[in-house]
Amino acid sequence: MEKRAIDDSDTITADPAFRADVLDGLTAPQRAVPARWLYDRRGSELFEAITDLPEYYPTRTETRILTESGADIAAKVGRGRAVVEFGSGSSAKTPLLLRAITPAAYVPIDISGDFLRDAAAALAQDFPDLPVIPVEADFMEPIALPEAIRGLPKLGFFPGSTIGNLVPRTSVDLLRAMRESLGDDALLLIGMDRVKSEDVLVPAYDDAAGITAAFNLNLLDRINRELGGTIPVDAFRHRAIWNETLTRIEMHLEATRDVDFAIDGHAFQMAAGETIHTENSHKYGPRDARMLLLAGEWTPVAEWTDPDDRFALLLAEARPRRKAP
Ligand code: AVJ
Repeated sequence: MEKRAIDDSDTITADPAFRADVLDGLTAPQRAVPARWLYDRRGSELFEAITDLPEYYPTRTETRILTESGADIAAKVGRGRAVVEFGSGSSAKTPLLLRAITPAAYVPIDISGDFLRDAAAALAQDFPDLPVIPVEADFMEPIALPEAIRGLPKLGFFPGSTIGNLVPRTSVDLLRAMRESLGDDALLLIGMDRVKSEDVLVPAYDDAAGITAAFNLNLLDRINRELGGTIPVDAFRHRAIWNETLTRIEMHLEATRDVDFAIDGHAFQMAAGETIHTENSHKYGPRDARMLLLAGEWTPVAEWTDPDDRFALLLAEARPRRKAP
């Protein structure tokens, strides 16, 4: 995930997009840095650790749904589809799906080539008879799929509630880009986290062991390291806040005292109590989830949840557009 360029003098220079996002984001009235910058090598390791926490239910719940409903999902999806996964599929969920549905090909799409090739190679080992065709691309935009799967029926796979990171209007853009990439008659299997009690949600993003706090605070270390920042990391604390109106968990970094720091020669001041907004995790009730899919031009056809309805996997279809009802 980490992107660095080596310049002529052989020193490591920061990604200019990271620099621009941080400098712009910390100047806005509500300071905010896009969530994707949380996932450098250390951040990705900490996120992996989060998925094992007792409070963090989403990963194990989605895995359980895939395991327990695999046969049912297979019956709805049918055999011989090309599975197109948005995100490189380094998780345990991909093999579960592939084993359940017997696809004709597997196409992982990721913006990070290194990550993608590693994940694709590992998968190809476990599925020797399955053509694995990685595509390095930004899946926020429509993608030309490989020639080899052109004639096959498609199944898009977007697990992990990753869509929850996006605000609804961006989610709709993404769903429409996916529809454009996959074409008419494709199916999409997508994971969404449900709205539920704050007493369950907040601990999932503010665990007792402090792993999520470390994950969030790592962003400040990364800014200091890669952008030559002087942020006093010990003056910040992790906050996980349930925003009821926007039905999302927000992660923030709160200044615990007035602080002054510099990033790449730019001076910043924050007052005690001010925050930097670092991530959203939107939650969708049963109807919210279906409405979001419809807004993104996907027609819901089935869904599977766990017994406590904590998490949902939804199956939707790219029905050809028509004018009449
Ligand atoms: C990777 C976006 C699905 O929102 O639950 C977990 C990220 N952040 N704990 C989520 C995350 C803090 C996670 N997603």
